[in-house]
Amino acid sequence: ARRKHKGARGLRFAPVAPNTADAVTVPEGYRQNVVIRWGEPILRGAPAFDPEKQTAKAQAGQFGYNCDFLALLPLPGERGRQLLVANHEYTDEVLMFRGYDAANPTREQVEVAWAAHGLSAVVVEGDRKTGKLTAVARHQLNRRVTATTEFRLTGPVAGSDLVKTSADPTGTKVLGTLNNCSGGVTPWGTTLHGEENFNQYFAGSSRATDKRYGIGTGASERKWERFDKRFDVAQEPNEVHRFGYVVEFDPYDPSSTPRKHTALGRFKHEAANIRMTADGRPVVYTGDDERFDYFYKFVGSKRMRHGSSRAVREHNLSLLDEGTLYVAKLTGDSPALEIDGTGKLPGDGEFDGSGEWIPLATATADGAVSHVDGMSAEEVFVFTRLAGDKVGATKMDRPEDIEPNPVTGKVYVALTNNTNRGVGSNAKADEANPRNANKHGHVLELTERWNRPESTRFAWSLFLVAGDPDDPATYFAGFPKDGVSPISCPDNVAFDPYGNLWISTDGAQLGSHDGLFGVATRGERRGELKQFLTVPKGAETCGPIIQDRRVLVAVQHPGEIDGASVEKPASTWPDGPGKYVRPAVVAVWRADGCDIGV
Ligand code: FEO
Ligand code: CA
Ligand code: CA
Ligand code: CA
Repeated sequence: ARRKHKGARGLRFAPVAPNTADAVTVPEGYRQNVVIRWGEPILRGAPAFDPEKQTAKAQAGQFGYNCDFLALLPLPGERGRQLLVANHEYTDEVLMFRGYDAANPTREQVEVAWAAHGLSAVVVEGDRKTGKLTAVARHQLNRRVTATTEFRLTGPVAGSDLVKTSADPTGTKVLGTLNNCSGGVTPWGTTLHGEENFNQYFAGSSRATDKRYGIGTGASERKWERFDKRFDVAQEPNEVHRFGYVVEFDPYDPSSTPRKHTALGRFKHEAANIRMTADGRPVVYTGDDERFDYFYKFVGSKRMRHGSSRAVREHNLSLLDEGTLYVAKLTGDSPALEIDGTGKLPGDGEFDGSGEWIPLATATADGAVSHVDGMSAEEVFVFTRLAGDKVGATKMDRPEDIEPNPVTGKVYVALTNNTNRGVGSNAKADEANPRNANKHGHVLELTERWNRPESTRFAWSLFLVAGDPDDPATYFAGFPKDGVSPISCPDNVAFDPYGNLWISTDGAQLGSHDGLFGVATRGERRGELKQFLTVPKGAETCGPIIQDRRVLVAVQHPGEIDGASVEKPASTWPDGPGKYVRPAVVAVWRADGCDIGV
């Protein structure tokens, strides 16, 4: 007999209690398997994983490190199979190489790290009897994209002097993608990937523009500049202008050259998620994950075409090259700006207000136009943070994933935390970022005017103020707090087929490991947040995908604890003691074969 649990449709499961198990813990009655781990061979000719003898060549044919964003795309004609695309955000050298000397990495170690970054496309196959999912090695669509794969720079900055280098005087060909964090799937069957903390790979800059992006004056953490001068800003000043974009990848064409879309601006893109206008143009939401930085949207001017011919595909791959980039400005309407700890919302009783999308620049087929005084259009697209500063955009508490609800159109913005809010001379709490020293983060809900994604005005309200529900400075969309799970540091968001919001966390500050949560966005149970799983020690929960019968998560950086190393591991997940800890993708399903949470 099916066990009944309370909750909105899609969220009827027994919540997982906060815990510190070195495991993926799922609700009672659910099962799991590891779909693919760092180092598993996916390309023809790639060897089995041997971390004691790892080479760059081997890694280039194997699943990369630190899986983050995940997409599962249909694979018509291949029964039971789907195409998995994964981001590999960054490398944890101390957990990858025995005896790693951070001050003196070897060339081989650096080249392994280059090959462990980027993206993987790998076909996966579902078990006929259970929800188990396994990788299909050597499938013709399997592909690795790394820190040295050729990319095309497209849009208004392509060919500009700001992106020409000694290796690429055309300013259009970039090698590699770095720090791909979260992403999105386009309605035309490609995937988008945010290049996030690209600053950490570059050394030796003292330019003000680089400082605004967090690029240091000294050596980089991984010392890549010793092995390729393009990572040394002093020697190759424009290479750094070629990272920090939204990447588009066509996983159905293994010979395609992935693109970097400059019209979406350059910053620490967390993700990129699309909602289409009624007349078929893409609107892309994307956040800049930094304390006191902004979130943006791009409204395309070209219409998507339907079909699968090469001409149609080429056309759709150009949709993100023309349109207007906007930044968000939020205005509150309450006299009180900070949650006061009484459990009541001050002022008019609601944390809400209005918002404006401020245009920064428009890219057209004939060139680009700036809307920011004192900056050219090219400058706006390359130094987008400075453009946001100039127009007075609202400084947010680290905008992570932003995603429109496919059922309602409302847009959810995960603001992960900002412990510097209100500290010293930093900006103080405001209605949209209502806690000083914000440890646990919050989630905003935006409604575009007339519910049209291209509107330049919107309404916003607080949806969740995260933390321990016993803490009066928390809020769960008005749902009674005795029935909700504690949550801290919302990062990635996703939706299930019923329009419930699913939230994964990174860096939870409540003593439990990070995890995945589901929360109803509509109806009587709106705000009822329930924990679905927790991840192993040191790990962040990423890339959630919620299908009818299966949930997928990327377990990123398990065992990443200060002082941990191959010799002194903090986690033994997933393969047990004596084995290397390995970032991996996990599938979860119901033992009785029914849909998730019904
Ligand atoms: Fe890579 Fe903003 O998380
Ligand atoms: Ca993230
Ligand atoms: Ca997402
Ligand atoms: Ca994060």
